[in-house]
Amino acid sequence: MKAVVLGSAAGGGVPQWNCACVNCQLARRGAGVKPRTQDSLAVSADGRAWFLLNASPDVARQIERAAFLQPFEDRDGALRTGRDGSGPALRQSPIAGAVLTNGDLDHCLGLLCLREWARLSVYATSNVLSGLVVHNALFRTLQRTSSAVAFRELGLEARTPLCDRSGESTGLLVTAFPVLGKVPLHLAGRVPLTPETNVGLIVTDERSGEELVYVPGAASLEGISERAEGADCLLLDGTFWSGRELADLGRGYPLADDMAHMPVGGARGSLERLSEIRVRQRVYTHINNTNPMLRDGSPERLEVEGRGWRIAEDGMEIAL
Ligand code: MLT
Ligand code: MN
Ligand code: ZN
Repeated sequence: MKAVVLGSAAGGGVPQWNCACVNCQLARRGAGVKPRTQDSLAVSADGRAWFLLNASPDVARQIERAAFLQPFEDRDGALRTGRDGSGPALRQSPIAGAVLTNGDLDHCLGLLCLREWARLSVYATSNVLSGLVVHNALFRTLQRTSSAVAFRELGLEARTPLCDRSGESTGLLVTAFPVLGKVPLHLAGRVPLTPETNVGLIVTDERSGEELVYVPGAASLEGISERAEGADCLLLDGTFWSGRELADLGRGYPLADDMAHMPVGGARGSLERLSEIRVRQRVYTHINNTNPMLRDGSPERLEVEGRGWRIAEDGMEIAL
């Protein structure tokens, strides 16, 4: 399996357009904090057909930075038809589809950026799909022709083959498992919190058996360590270093708990609580612009790296 981090920041990215915090200023000056786009991971079994795990609002920029996601020409310069032999030759993409972990805008707005004659398979739990398709008329734009985006339901705990729009398997299997989260801001008060609201994904290469566990949002570690035990890689929610990281900025800012993200640092943080887990590679992603571990050489960065974790960066390839 191939896996490439397309975006490694939480909602808003780093720097964030209206933020003057230390990290955002350092990122703008190119001084010790790398700019990051919003959370998304590209995975592929064969390096030809790719699935996006979450579709970030920055997806167009992410594609232009990743040659493997761009429409391709044959060696003689002729434009190929789509990978499945369909569609006008000018319109094709190595992107077969996307899998969503929840309905937050930073994870699904990118689908709307991919609306031009898209032939994509979009997998998500039925709760997340109804948030897009039933509660949100904008997403109907993705279904303007009968061959456009197919929304496919992901049952919890069911190993599901990831297939392209025409139903051909891409060699990857995905299993969604419940992780405590919260309903997206725009659906608060309209839909209940259920085990399908927010999920982690286990992506398995059907042939090699390689396994990657992707959990960019988690309010609790329940269910995560047993899934990650023995996996080739765990990518975990690294939104906040501490529970009061935003609250300490001033009145009206939420606690990490209110946003359903468990902190990395501290006695109750994921770094301490997952220190014993056996997983070949461990990477924090979906990192908020305020998180001190984004700063090169900060004590928080040294602590994370000292314990064998890496901080995701845009473009990082994960060798499996
Ligand atoms: C989150 O990860 O908590 C959300 O992306 C927040 C948001 O929707 O702005
Ligand atoms: Mn988010
Ligand atoms: Zn900032």
